[in-house]
Amino acid sequence: SIYSISALIAAYLLGSIPTAVWLGQAFYGVDVREYGSGNAGATNTFRVLGKKAGIAVMLIDIFKGYTATQLAHFIGLSVTGPHNSTQFVNYQLALGVIAVMGHLFPVFAGFRGGKGVATLFGMVLAVNFQAAMLCVLVFVVVLLVSKYVSLSSICAGFTFPIGIVFVFHSSIKSEVLYGICVCILILVTHQKNLERLLKGKESKVYLFKKKQA
Ligand code: G3P
Repeated sequence: SIYSISALIAAYLLGSIPTAVWLGQAFYGVDVREYGSGNAGATNTFRVLGKKAGIAVMLIDIFKGYTATQLAHFIGLSVTGPHNSTQFVNYQLALGVIAVMGHLFPVFAGFRGGKGVATLFGMVLAVNFQAAMLCVLVFVVVLLVSKYVSLSSICAGFTFPIGIVFVFHSSIKSEVLYGICVCILILVTHQKNLERLLKGKESKVYLFKKKQA
């Protein structure tokens, strides 16, 4: 229906909002894509512009993914009969992934965006809150131990499908399927990071500034 098509387009446009680029340009006069890892995401904003900007980008990018899934309320309006929850989750997942595509290839920033981790997390948050919390736990632990955000993102990405299958025993097949897609997507967007990790050349991120000796 017209509602469904509008929702899909809206999800892409929402994901396309290049938070890191716009926030950096507006408040610091800097395009974060020219510095650090060159990525238009929360991590690189943190790296280039500091904690406040990084956290702001992270929250807004999470919000993009979460909000995109809520557009599912507009899909299937022309379909009569009750919407079962599996179908609703399917819509949410599709809209979330489309928003992530917007984040990766933003129409508002020359199609050069980020890696989609925060936006994917927003989707997971809406679809399976418990799995999302497990992902956060894994992300934080890996980050505190390794200091690599990319490694934390990859581990958290794997936690989603593993969590929904083995910890929460979700019966929603599409959730598992999308979970696997999330893993693949994160591996694809983190190829350069993986190369650097293997060479021991990935840059570390310190959440708390180390005291100078
Ligand atoms: O969220 C992206 C993160 O996993 C890696 O970012 O800037 O280190 O490539 P970056």
